Amino acid sequence: MADHQEGLTNVDACESMDDSLMQKKEWHLGDWVEMLYERGNTVVGLEGVEKPVREFYEMYPDLQHSVEDLPFGKLFKSSDGRLQVYVCDVTQVPSEALGKFDAVFDWGAYTAIVEGDRQRYVDVVMATMKEDSRYFLEVCHDGPPEATGIPNSVSFRTLKLEFGPSWRLRVLETLDISEDWEVESFFNSYFLITPKNSQ
Ligand SMILES: C[S@@+](CC[C@H](N)C(=O)[O-])C[C@H]1O[C@@H](n2cnc3c(N)ncnc32)[C@H](O)[C@@H]1O
Repeated sequence: MADHQEGLTNVDACESMDDSLMQKKEWHLGDWVEMLYERGNTVVGLEGVEKPVREFYEMYPDLQHSVEDLPFGKLFKSSDGRLQVYVCDVTQVPSEALGKFDAVFDWGAYTAIVEGDRQRYVDVVMATMKEDSRYFLEVCHDGPPEATGIPNSVSFRTLKLEFGPSWRLRVLETLDISEDWEVESFFNSYFLITPKNSQ
């Protein structure tokens, strides 16, 4: 999640990111975090497992991070406060605890959450949206009905029902990933989600 209110982000540059975001295969998530941070944004992440978060901060000793204990997990924070990662189970995050953001980036999280926890995940993330926020979401769908495991295949209908009627869901691109997963059918779609009443 990124907040550019106090940063240097150029809005035109953000619009052109809609395309480049889909080139994620060539980038690790940490590269995006670093790029958004270097542009002056405040970047806030959330991850259930501590090890990769610790390793990420160890890669950037200049950030001089601290670790704070929270009632629902831990908060890793750079000394300038602009790069924060919550280590917690997303379903345990109190509503509105994360703050509000201009943009939300979700690669592989929505489709990794246990099905029974997914609605709570959506509610927690959507509570971070403002009237003009954008949410970039990767979804895997139309996989074999009998397949289990991550990434979960989530139908567009389920997606629509879980996000609810207040949001406009726009597909930016759909890729056929069935060959990669050696199944008859499996697709990957990238969504741009915005509040319905926004421009
Ligand atoms: C497929 S990985 C994607 C990681 C990252 N977004 C990326 O693109 O590299 C899914 C991640 O979701 C995290 N996750 C799954 N369930 C979670 C939960 N309930 N709370 C917080 N994180 C969770 C896992 O720990 C895992 O790192």
